[in-house]
Amino acid sequence: MLVLGVESSCDETSVAVVRDGKEVLSNVILSQIDVHKAFGGVVPEVASRHHVYNVSMVFEEALEKAGVKGSDIDLVAVTYGPGLIGSLLVGVNAAKTFALVYNKPIIGVNHLAGHIYANQIEHEMKFPCIALLVSGGNTELIYMKDHFKFEIIGETLDDAVGESYDKVARVMGLEYPGGPKVDKLAHEGQDTYHLPRVYLGNDNYNFSFSGLKSHVINLHHNAMQRGEEINIKDLCASFQATVTEVLVAKTLKAAEEYKVKQIIVAGGVSANKGLKERFILENKDRFEVCIPSIKYCTDNAAMIGVAGYYQYMVTKRYDDLSLNADASLELLSL
Ligand code: KG4
Repeated sequence: MLVLGVESSCDETSVAVVRDGKEVLSNVILSQIDVHKAFGGVVPEVASRHHVYNVSMVFEEALEKAGVKGSDIDLVAVTYGPGLIGSLLVGVNAAKTFALVYNKPIIGVNHLAGHIYANQIEHEMKFPCIALLVSGGNTELIYMKDHFKFEIIGETLDDAVGESYDKVARVMGLEYPGGPKVDKLAHEGQDTYHLPRVYLGNDNYNFSFSGLKSHVINLHHNAMQRGEEINIKDLCASFQATVTEVLVAKTLKAAEEYKVKQIIVAGGVSANKGLKERFILENKDRFEVCIPSIKYCTDNAAMIGVAGYYQYMVTKRYDDLSLNADASLELLSL
């Protein structure tokens, strides 16, 4: 089955062709990072306009790279939420137009399910599993008994991890998106600032990052006001050590309690090298830990094509052309 995946929930316009939920024939990603850098973050209106400029070209390139024609596609799978409403609308309408023109079935895919299913491309998902979903807008621990059975057992009570990375990076004068820059500098510094770890007690799997974020921002501001030097590399290393320690400890604890066969890490922050190293260090080969390669960690349409395939396999249902974007779509079981 050939699935055409379409993703436009934030600042990447992406279209992919995926065979049987596994083989990625093409995965074209047009990133707008350079456009938004100047503003220090994604500007929603600018993002949707760029999706409009680029979307047809990305569709054409994805089909061409895969060596298939529009008529060869069996199913169109499109991200319909959560995300920026203007951005989502462009992808959803482009996908619906494609489906109408080629008379193909369409299904709407949850962007977060897409991140989770990015793991199916290079690994084989095994159930039950625990998914740690860490992106710019989400931080969740999810127990999965089977395909598309999601039970959120913990989540951030305030900021998402990726958002915290981007905010502390901005204060330290690092360009958007700050996550990869903080990760890189963290590897050149030492955890000398010993920032507070927020565990929120032993009886839950929730997270909190806003206090840590404010702590780093205040530390930086106070040092600037006093004319003291901040060691940016050490501050990045300290921030990263704090974040990864809490994420990994809670994920491993959940994996033990729920007796899972596998841990899956998903979302943009799964590209973080420190997170991977911390999992290797703390896991000590107890669980199989799957982390996608970098190209499948951040937003891409291949993961939507894969998720769309499994969604169809589970439900055997299509959507119709009344499918609409939903900016605050929740991750629900099917
Ligand atoms: O999943 P994603 O591409 O978009 C959302 O759906 O949110 O995630 C983007 C987030 C950004 O906050 C970015 O800074 C973060 O992922 N990120 C990283 C790394 N690479 C991307 N954060 C920490 N370390 C990285 N290496």
